[in-house]
Amino acid sequence: MTILVTGANGQLGNEMRIVSKNSEDKYIFTDVVDASEESIAMLKKLAGEEIKTDTIHLDITNLDAIRAIVNENDVKIIVNCAAYTNVDAAEDHQELAELLNAKAPENLAIVMKEVGGLLVHISTDYVFGKEPYNTPCKEDQKGTPTGVYGLTKLHGEQAIQRVGCNHVIIRTAWLYSEFGKNFVKTMLNLTATKPQLKVVFDQVGTPTYALDLANAIVRVIESYKEEFFTLHSSLFTKNGIYHFSNEGVCSWYDFTKMIAEYAGQDNCDIQPCHSDEFLSTVKRPSFSVLDKKKIKDTFGIQIPYWTDSLKELLKHFPLTNE
Ligand SMILES: NC(=O)c1ccc[n+]([C@@H]2O[C@H](COP(=O)([O-])OP(=O)(O)OC[C@H]3O[C@@H](n4cnc5c(N)ncnc54)[C@H](OP(=O)(O)O)[C@@H]3O)[C@@H](O)[C@H]2O)c1
Repeated sequence: MTILVTGANGQLGNEMRIVSKNSEDKYIFTDVVDASEESIAMLKKLAGEEIKTDTIHLDITNLDAIRAIVNENDVKIIVNCAAYTNVDAAEDHQELAELLNAKAPENLAIVMKEVGGLLVHISTDYVFGKEPYNTPCKEDQKGTPTGVYGLTKLHGEQAIQRVGCNHVIIRTAWLYSEFGKNFVKTMLNLTATKPQLKVVFDQVGTPTYALDLANAIVRVIESYKEEFFTLHSSLFTKNGIYHFSNEGVCSWYDFTKMIAEYAGQDNCDIQPCHSDEFLSTVKRPSFSVLDKKKIKDTFGIQIPYWTDSLKELLKHFPLTNE
């Protein structure tokens, strides 16, 4: 089967390159930007010289361009890793966030509907948050985003459902990886260079190693292929919304403490603080833990505990205690 990955040079897209390395399927990696030299070097370090690092240009706001590449290559599955992901900047760029997070997924859904394919789309825990939840959020719970990013991602989910193509929408949270900018890389740097650091403890969720999510996506793809080749039905019986993060619960403060501890960086005094001590244009959810029972039961996915995955990631960086 031919599988097209959008946003292939982002965090999740690069992990998709790694998990698909030995696949029998044909993967096409697309983005609006070329892979950075840093990402290419990391890909080769993690997966060897033969890893696919090329990128075909595809802007997913362009419906005709999506249609052309899908038809030319007989694409049957799209994995959408592209998005407007800057939560703060989205507050000032609502139109652009809406275009990338809602209109573009709709474009992908339209084309997958035309060819009878599957859209695997990634959404976020930030579709929740306005109510003070203290139990893990379920897939069918009403979305209550606190900011523009979460709102536009919710609109993207709704657009895909409206179009009605085969779809698996996976909401994930607090994504980190070896690639690009993310919280773990920022905190590795700050805890190594600053004597003191304040980190919020009143926002609670679960970190997610993007490699674990990429492996879960492969499991979804395998399940779709199993049905496609055995049932010969155009309707995927597992269409729907799912939640995926690592297991467990923590605050950004706890997360930072573990990053520093595992990296052996004990010279930084890390203190908990409240969100209102930081000037921000956007209010983030105070509790956005995702309930993952549905994805585990439906696809037989086992999910690593968040500290175990964090340790796995840190093996890929030179650490102070080595
Ligand atoms: N990061 C998180 O903490 C987090 C948490 C929950 C959910 N998610 C969701 O997880 C998914 C993957 O996130 P990520 O962190 O891997 O994202 P990312 O690193 O920001 O990667 C997104 C990629 O999409 C590209 N892109 C932007 N506009 C595009 C367009 N018009 N057409 C095609 N590609 C375009 C970006 O290019 P540029 O770099 O040039 O923009 C970038 O390479 C997203 O759906 C995101 O909403 C992320």
